[in-house]
Amino acid sequence: MPERRIAILGAGPVGSTLGHKWARAGHTVAFGVKDPSSERAQSLRAHLGEHVLIGSPADALAMSDIAVLAVPGEVVEELVTTHAHLLDHKIVIEAANKLPHIQKTLSTKKWADHEPLTSLSTLQAHAPHAQVYRAFNSYGWEPFADPLYQGVQADLFYCGPEGEARTVVEQLITEVGLCPVRLGDVDQVEVVDDVLRLWVTLALLQGKGRDQVALKVLTR
Ligand SMILES: NC(=O)c1ccc[n+]([C@@H]2O[C@H](COP(=O)([O-])OP(=O)(O)OC[C@H]3O[C@@H](n4cnc5c(N)ncnc54)[C@H](OP(=O)(O)O)[C@@H]3O)[C@@H](O)[C@H]2O)c1
Repeated sequence: MPERRIAILGAGPVGSTLGHKWARAGHTVAFGVKDPSSERAQSLRAHLGEHVLIGSPADALAMSDIAVLAVPGEVVEELVTTHAHLLDHKIVIEAANKLPHIQKTLSTKKWADHEPLTSLSTLQAHAPHAQVYRAFNSYGWEPFADPLYQGVQADLFYCGPEGEARTVVEQLITEVGLCPVRLGDVDQVEVVDDVLRLWVTLALLQGKGRDQVALKVLTR
């Protein structure tokens, strides 16, 4: 695949895991973070080298064609409204989940009652020409780091439009080491988010372990 220019907003476990894999696959990766001089940013620089940019969200978006949202869910809407002009016309992958009280949610087991996890409607309203995909949100980061389960490649469920952008997104999923499974266009976002609810039930509520569980569709 040709080299892509990817902005990853957020360099936490999700952003940094994806960034490592895509940098290794030969893409240009720019991280947009809150504090580019933080210890976390320094450590990422040390691992990935100076060719990877770590700057503000605006810096990262300005030099990319693809944007991955990997910041806390509660800051996505503010970031999207502030940088809407830089997100419009890009491929945007929303990995963020609006889970401000995950510990509380888990302890009360109120997954079914939870409000939407996605900021899709904000993205569509403020960046109407962006091609938006919901992906990399339905597991913990651990299956992104190590996607093989007893030699079997885990599936990664996602949704978003058909077309050239889909090919790009599927390639990025494949380069992480996961098998892409498209559930439909963005109207299927709740189905993708239900996969997260299922994964949390298995991995966290049932205690199977964050790095022990991922999903695979069986067909014949
Ligand atoms: N952790 C998981 O296993 C997992 C799995 C799937 C999806 N998710 C979702 O993916 C998102 C990222 O999760 P995470 O655990 O990797 O990281 P996180 O702790 O939610 O986010 C940390 C990153 O976001 C940046 N950030 C925070 N506020 C910002 C702002 N206003 N502007 C720019 N950058 C900002 C931080 O910058 P600094 O480095 O400067 O502080 C840091 O790099 C979340 O929405 C989460 O729900 C998480």
